[in-house]
Amino acid sequence: MPSSSLVLPILFQLSAFCPLETDFNASFSRAVERGHPHHRKPDPSPPAPPEHGSYDQTAFSECLAAPTSPLYNGGVLKNPAFDADLLGWSPFGGCTLKIQVQGRNKFLVATNRNAGFHGPSQALANLTQGSKYTLSAWLQVNGGSDDTAPLVKATIKANGQYISAGSVAARNKCWTFLKGGFIPEFNASSATLYFESSDPKVDIWLDSVSLQPFSDEEWSKHQDISIKKSRTRSVTLSVTDCKGHGIHNADIQVEQITGDFPFGSAIASTILDNPTYQKWFVTRFNTAVFENEMKWYSTERQQGKVSYETADKMLDFCKANNILVRGHNVLWNDPQYQPGWVKDLSASELRTATMSRIESVMSHYAGKLPQWDVLNEMLHFNFFESKLGSNAAVEIYKFAQEIDPETTLFLNDFNVIEMKAAGIKKLGIGLEGHFSGKPNLVYMRAVLDKLATLELPIWLTEVDIMNSVDSENQAIYLQQVLREAFSHPAVKGIVLWTALHPYGCYRMCLTDQNFKNLPAGNIVDVFLKNIRTVGLSGTTDHEGSFSFQGFHGEYEISVTHNRTSVIKRLAIGPDTDSQTIHVLVS
Ligand SMILES: *[C@@H]1O[C@H](CO)[C@@H](O)[C@H](O)[C@H]1NC(C)=O
Ligand SMILES: *[C@@H]1O[C@H](CO)[C@@H](O)[C@H](O)[C@H]1NC(C)=O
Ligand SMILES: *[C@@H]1O[C@H](CO)[C@@H](O)[C@H](O)[C@H]1NC(C)=O
Ligand SMILES: *[C@@H]1O[C@H](CO)[C@@H](O)[C@H](O)[C@H]1NC(C)=O
Repeated sequence: MPSSSLVLPILFQLSAFCPLETDFNASFSRAVERGHPHHRKPDPSPPAPPEHGSYDQTAFSECLAAPTSPLYNGGVLKNPAFDADLLGWSPFGGCTLKIQVQGRNKFLVATNRNAGFHGPSQALANLTQGSKYTLSAWLQVNGGSDDTAPLVKATIKANGQYISAGSVAARNKCWTFLKGGFIPEFNASSATLYFESSDPKVDIWLDSVSLQPFSDEEWSKHQDISIKKSRTRSVTLSVTDCKGHGIHNADIQVEQITGDFPFGSAIASTILDNPTYQKWFVTRFNTAVFENEMKWYSTERQQGKVSYETADKMLDFCKANNILVRGHNVLWNDPQYQPGWVKDLSASELRTATMSRIESVMSHYAGKLPQWDVLNEMLHFNFFESKLGSNAAVEIYKFAQEIDPETTLFLNDFNVIEMKAAGIKKLGIGLEGHFSGKPNLVYMRAVLDKLATLELPIWLTEVDIMNSVDSENQAIYLQQVLREAFSHPAVKGIVLWTALHPYGCYRMCLTDQNFKNLPAGNIVDVFLKNIRTVGLSGTTDHEGSFSFQGFHGEYEISVTHNRTSVIKRLAIGPDTDSQTIHVLVS
């Protein structure tokens, strides 16, 4: 049992003769003393170093004055921190490598680079097809100006092919952490890892590099460990009589009624007036997003004629079925998705129209949507900045926050730190997750590790697999993405982009038009079972205890002894404190 899992003592009393008031506290303290040595005991020893084969989630988003030591002691790399000077390292292309010392730290400098791909490299003995290679390094560029942050990329050359292993915008005068990885599609008896930067004028500084391969079995074990730690809780039920004596052989049935993890899909207005679709949806999902119905081009086709009628109906349907709705989106930074009339506005008219849109839609839904995509796809497009000035995004987020301070304002990517500095308090990161083919799970996990350091809620908001992939492989890849996302502790919700229309779906459908599962639908149904505690029952031990590992959510627990049954509801969450449930049966 990982030390972070907690024991939740729950006391059932099954006796007609227990005086309620007096026994309550006494029984609780006895239960704690007797049965549960883990409970609330201060951890006597520091955390053990990671076991062999375990995954290191360490990542940094700030630029540091000095690098930390290499993850996995460098893994399969030789001389990963340059303690043995240049041993194992050589120039890739035309450049000069040298060792430099700063304080007590030795690192490598690649200078006199003549082309983007010139940089430091190390030969690898072999690559194994399908292995998951996680890579990390500390980087700095010396020679650029202070404000530019040229991209430094890690690349693997093998069998004449170039495999991208990650990149980072490296800074001058402080160290930036690169985390990435790759999965080779072939075996190679030799390969080269090298670092490059498209700007040949900069020197590349490198330190504390690591390359650690994991097998599929190890990767899957990391996921299991992480799911257990971040999505479940160890629970101990304690069934005693009124004297505090454990009742042996009481029957326990554990049923999870709701799951805390938000998992859902996009829906479209096609769900309204379609009871089959509605039933199919509500029996699976606790979260929804509206594909287009809240977008500006849908709610204000003509300037000044605002209608939320369709979106309101969809929201009513969701509310009635306890389905959480993400707001999507207040504004979209892609110029082609503006309402037609917006394109012809002058800058000052656009400013007025923009503020009025934010005010209108966010006050209409204030208090009803726990999160809003505010300026959708702002890293890819800049419609509003181009017309209203470079500060437009910050102004838009600030205004949105004023109108609905309770909702979490989502960005769709990781250009988040400036927004935080700009004083946005409730910010979240929405990662769309439209995969074009086989997902690179090593890279995905590395990016999540890095984003996790920002300590903001992260959601996968529009997950699908491109339909150029056949439906069997769509399903396999979807399964991989869902499991990887669910196993990452920083991921707080997953929403699929699978709204069903008469013509099909954007890229991936879960069912056909008759709600018969397609392969991706089967994957979703299996995933839904795997994120819930199902079919759990047993009997108490001689001390009256029954323990289980439960996914976070609402439970109904029934305890039967001597033909007497009690049923209790109970919430199990990451922050659930120990609970005592007092039951008196007569
Ligand atoms: C039991 O605990 C409750 C609240 O924790 C307290 O109000 C009550 O006085 C306690 N009873 C006894 C008998 O200690
Ligand atoms: C390939 O490299 C790994 C380390 O990545 C090593 O454990 C393994 O023995 C090597 N296999 C061969 C055939 O060289
Ligand atoms: C690649 O190498 C591994 C062992 O290193 C071996 O099990 C596997 O069959 C090889 N794959 C191919 C396609 O040769
Ligand atoms: C169960 O029932 C039997 C017979 O009715 C009784 O003797 C016994 O005390 C009961 N046990 C408990 C734990 O209530």
